[in-house]
Amino acid sequence: MKHWHIDEVAWDRFDPSKVDPALIPLVKAAAMVERNGTDYAIYLNRVFHDDPDFRQAADHWAEEEVQHGDALGKWATLADPSWDYQAAFARYRAGYKLPLDAEASIRGSRTGELIARCMVETGTSSYYSALGEAAAEPVLKQICRNIAADEFRHFKLFYDHMRRYLARENIGMVRRLRIAAGRITESEDDELAFAWHCGNAPEGKAYEHARCAAAYMAGAVACYRFRHVERGMGMIFKAVGLPPRGKLSDLSAKAAWRLLKWRRRRLARRVAA
Ligand SMILES: [Fe+2]
Ligand SMILES: [Fe+2]
Repeated sequence: MKHWHIDEVAWDRFDPSKVDPALIPLVKAAAMVERNGTDYAIYLNRVFHDDPDFRQAADHWAEEEVQHGDALGKWATLADPSWDYQAAFARYRAGYKLPLDAEASIRGSRTGELIARCMVETGTSSYYSALGEAAAEPVLKQICRNIAADEFRHFKLFYDHMRRYLARENIGMVRRLRIAAGRITESEDDELAFAWHCGNAPEGKAYEHARCAAAYMAGAVACYRFRHVERGMGMIFKAVGLPPRGKLSDLSAKAAWRLLKWRRRRLARRVAA
């Protein structure tokens, strides 16, 4: 069912001389979040309890996300043989809990849940595109290309189901925009910062949210180019029901790029301090 399999990655082409040490912590953190896909599928199965088609799609989606985590984890272990992927993930799982007992979406509606999923897939598709292009190591490039292709398909999957629910629930544009913006800003919560901590901090070191969030964001934003932001903005527009290409989307992409460059400078200063 998967579009690619971890065993098909050309692991024997791994070239340690081409590994950029700055990317290793990013890959370790990403492996944590991706590997946690199974828990999110449990939550989605509860929220969409009477929709067998979507539940099946969510289970399949989770299998792909878990494979993303395993492929990134395997690469990080090659790049840093002292790293223990399973132990790092066990720490993440113990400390980061999703609302698995939810009876309904924490976004207020199923349409809202699916818009939030579209935002996540927008973020991941642009991130792995950016990470893969920033990397010089051929195996990491291949993994990121494969993952990014999955994330673009995941966006389409959640988008198609969202359109179906939107016809029923009729959520207004302002609410859709608010849900989208809310999910984008949430990316700076514990999900990623704690993943950075579990993936990179030595055993026993206390978790400091602000420091880990800054370290993660500084590394991540450094990989982005304007084209990634531009494509991502088109996807955000599409998900909330606005024209993905046009003046407004163009202007928003340019504004987001300026904001990203400003944050990049600030984060670099904070991390250096
Ligand atoms: Fe993923
Ligand atoms: Fe995904």
